[in-house]
Amino acid sequence: MNSLTTITLLKWDAQHYGTGFAHVDDQHHELFDGLNSLTFFLQNASAANDPENQDKVIELLYFLGEYVIRHFQEEEEIFTKCGHPLAEANKEAHQVFYEKYFEYNDKLISGTFSLELLQQLHSFLHSWLLNHILKIDTTLREYAAKSGMNNSSSAEKKGVFAKFLAFFQMK
Ligand SMILES: [Fe+2]
Repeated sequence: MNSLTTITLLKWDAQHYGTGFAHVDDQHHELFDGLNSLTFFLQNASAANDPENQDKVIELLYFLGEYVIRHFQEEEEIFTKCGHPLAEANKEAHQVFYEKYFEYNDKLISGTFSLELLQQLHSFLHSWLLNHILKIDTTLREYAAKSGMNNSSSAEKKGVFAKFLAFFQMK
């Protein structure tokens, strides 16, 4: 058992977290899945100590990092196209995120794998993501209607983190 067993899984709720841009919302929903995969891993202490599972977590962290880079770029373009006054602040917040995320990632990947470090990364991701979506990303709502961009609810979510979710959920 570790302290993370009490952390609840993130549940996507469009009314609460929605930005009015279906594409952005889908990506945020995917990110919830990515973070939930990590939560599953950390909630199971015996699985978390298994080197094979640790390799899978490293793979997840790489994948999550790449996914976040793409998501931020696409979201920043939307902020700019909307002439959103927080466009620069959003970019700067993303930059701060990158620095912290990759600092953790580099340590976890190059050094000895540390559960404690992974737990720190998990709490950082959890609080940063929710805080950022609620404080900055959801302010896109008021621009969604007038943007003229395609905001219609998109086809089903792709499930890009599905294999990680399935892997760690089974452990
Ligand atoms: Fe975002």
